[in-house]
Amino acid sequence: MATPGDKAWYQSWFDTPWYHVLYKHRDFKEAESFIDNICQYLGLAANSVVLDLACGKGRHAIYLARKGFRVVGLDLSARNIAEATQHANDRLSFHIHDMRRLWKPAYFDVAFNLFTSFGYFEDKTDDEAVFQSVAAGLKPGGLFVFDYLHATHVQETHVPRESQFHEGIQFSISRHLSDAWIIKQIEFETGGQAYCFYEKVRNFSPEELATMLQRCGFEIIRSFGNYRLDPLSADSPRCIYVARRL
Ligand SMILES: C[S@@+](CC[C@H](N)C(=O)[O-])C[C@H]1O[C@@H](n2cnc3c(N)ncnc32)[C@H](O)[C@@H]1O
Repeated sequence: MATPGDKAWYQSWFDTPWYHVLYKHRDFKEAESFIDNICQYLGLAANSVVLDLACGKGRHAIYLARKGFRVVGLDLSARNIAEATQHANDRLSFHIHDMRRLWKPAYFDVAFNLFTSFGYFEDKTDDEAVFQSVAAGLKPGGLFVFDYLHATHVQETHVPRESQFHEGIQFSISRHLSDAWIIKQIEFETGGQAYCFYEKVRNFSPEELATMLQRCGFEIIRSFGNYRLDPLSADSPRCIYVARRL
């Protein structure tokens, strides 16, 4: 069976075509609707400089640029950046970059980190390095929109095993929850080859995330619990913070 080898899970799984097959319902339409809602709330100036950190194939970044902002998308996956770059223009660029590292100091008016693009690292100081790099990349007073899973919702909707069929591939998914981690193992066969990947995300509570953001120089100005921007509550599916760099 083909396994990710000695790469970290987030270096291998996101860089495959099969990640996008399994998550194809997390599409441009979902991204555009959230961006419309959050931009209406933020009321950004027309020429704002925007970061989409861990942008994937750029579903949010492309739409943000279409709305008139100057947008930079950063991601570790060469495959994702190559695909996103097909949409690049004078207001929109994409670059391979590790989110733990600063890209440009005090450059952005707003930074987005969306759809649980966080909590991947074995060492928690690496998670904190992400928030620190975002803080250092924002202009003073700049805004950070951070969208993470909601730990309670994950526990309450936990399905230990399931099977999903997409584009001719049968994905067998098993999930494991511990105090520290939310782990999803994904097995499938395609092209005569069996594969096994996994996702391993920190089981951070909204409170832990808020404390970490504050420690990294942010003040939380608003929290939402879903992409329609309903208030964050104990049973919200998402934990979305809007924070200001102090
Ligand atoms: C769950 S996907 C979300 C992508 C995108 N935000 C979206 O909503 O479609 C997480 C993304 O994080 C990227 N990623 C993982 N580790 C990274 C790192 N250390 N630095 C930058 N990007 C990373 C992956 O390549 C992947 O594209």
